[in-house]
Amino acid sequence: MKANELREKFLSFFKEKGHAVIPSASVIPENDPTVLFTTAGMHPLVPYLLGAKHPEGNRLTNVQKCIRTGDIDEVGDATHCTFFEMLGNWSLGDYFKKEAIEWSWEFLTSEKWLGIPKEKLYFTVFAGDEDAPRDMESYNYWRSLGVPDDHIFFLPKENNWWGPAGITGPCGPDTEMFIDTGKEKCGPDCSPACNCGKYVEIWNDVFMEYNKTADGKFEPLSQKNVDTGMGLDRTIAILQGVESVYDTDIYKDIIDKIGQLSEKKYGQDEETTRAFRIVADHIRTSTFILGDQKAVTPSNVDQGYVLRRLIRRAIRFGLQIGIPEGSTPEIAQVVINQYRDVYPELGNNEDFIKRELALEEERFQRTIKQGLREFDKLVSRLGENVKVIDGPNAFRLYDTFGFPLEFTQELASERGYTVDVEGFQESFRRHQEISQAGAAQRFKGGLADHTEETAKLHTATHLLHAALRKVLGDEVAQRGSNITAERLRFDFSFSRKMTREELDEVERLVNEAIQKNVEIVCEEMPLEKALESGAIGLFESKYGNMVKVYTMGEFSKEICGGPHASRTGELGRFKIKKEESSSAGVRRIKAVLE
Ligand code: ALA
Repeated sequence: MKANELREKFLSFFKEKGHAVIPSASVIPENDPTVLFTTAGMHPLVPYLLGAKHPEGNRLTNVQKCIRTGDIDEVGDATHCTFFEMLGNWSLGDYFKKEAIEWSWEFLTSEKWLGIPKEKLYFTVFAGDEDAPRDMESYNYWRSLGVPDDHIFFLPKENNWWGPAGITGPCGPDTEMFIDTGKEKCGPDCSPACNCGKYVEIWNDVFMEYNKTADGKFEPLSQKNVDTGMGLDRTIAILQGVESVYDTDIYKDIIDKIGQLSEKKYGQDEETTRAFRIVADHIRTSTFILGDQKAVTPSNVDQGYVLRRLIRRAIRFGLQIGIPEGSTPEIAQVVINQYRDVYPELGNNEDFIKRELALEEERFQRTIKQGLREFDKLVSRLGENVKVIDGPNAFRLYDTFGFPLEFTQELASERGYTVDVEGFQESFRRHQEISQAGAAQRFKGGLADHTEETAKLHTATHLLHAALRKVLGDEVAQRGSNITAERLRFDFSFSRKMTREELDEVERLVNEAIQKNVEIVCEEMPLEKALESGAIGLFESKYGNMVKVYTMGEFSKEICGGPHASRTGELGRFKIKKEESSSAGVRRIKAVLE
């Protein structure tokens, strides 16, 4: 079975079971500062797992683009990738364990679907602890389907519990499905709990019925949900009977392309294979990041920093296998062609993706040359007696000149030096903290300061947001906000240029709300209640379960951290100065208060 077929089968199966097929959300989480990338299918659905109504109903299925870069240094072995697709089905307070388990079983074993021999399947369920009981229900459902007792294992929270995606939020016990690869047992206690590779997990049904609070408690959610995740890449590797995801049809064209460009052959030796896989994985992930909404370009902060690291690492390992300079756009082209039908954004942003890769290659070539000069200067400064490159210097080469640590280590060892790796990591951690603080700052709503003027413009932003939704519809959602004492800037999702009439109407509605001079009321409430009450805005998992909701008469209700004016009448006259495109599908309005 090919990857495309698995994707289609999964969606058709759940469509037959009454699920609405929804598109993949962005890989860049909207309004969640706790993570840089979407790491699981449930992530964009958190507000709905907490009780908000989903416009498509309470049974959903999709394929979600996911990025996990925590193990970036492991990429190159048989299993690690930084990008993957997660197939999922969701019940938002609808069906629960029985249907979820029966459908997983049917999809895995029925000849009409995956047709996996039943005897090859193994299952784990939650063993129970002080937070939640032993999951006998799931056990019994598996048994009632004919699964023998010795194919089911009870495991603790570290194995059979999923979530929350951030620090707080929806979570619950899960039941995981494994395939026996047929390899030898690693010992008498070999089970799905060990990582020896005999049993490979392919699917996870999570029963999200708890909300983890900021003080570490597990409270029952108002509704019981199902969240499932099947890794497309890993499952297809199993179905195709290959050892590595890199040997499936998913990577075939990409690896072939790298083979044409390279002087070496995939599989000729371990080091070459590793380099091929790193280039393939990193260019694939970079293509998906760049192609998402043109929202991220290589930079030194947040997602842009990860993107830069991926591209530069791909170039560096490309050099190792003799790929000529400037080849990354050609490799990306293969990724775009492969996925353009499933993810049209890649085709739509094709030129942008290739241009950004080419630009980053040029920048990297320049900095490499500068970096090498810098490295030589550093070595001569250290003199004869010091034979260690300290952490801050190694980090500067990394941060300013894009030298990966291994690169610096190699250069160092050629000259008889070593690198203080711990010191480097310490500097790296400090940088990450600063970078995360940057994300948190941006999340505050992009307020430059807390003066009276910015507070008024912030209030005007809420009125603008509400007016846009009234005039253009619910498609409008905040994508960014930046406020100085002079003006506001508001980015929102909307697919076309606004007409003059629409702009006039938005302006009129905001001014009308200002003239009514209503009081701006701030209330604190649990996030769940805020969403129930119809408040729009950001999902503030970072700040725990309680959020602030600002209400402006009947006109606007938004989750927000403040600060705001006290009454709308303080604002003066609202004037839109400009409406323009910010990126694909995102418009930008600049406005002032006169
Ligand atoms: N959210 C679950 C996972 O990522 C399904 O494994």
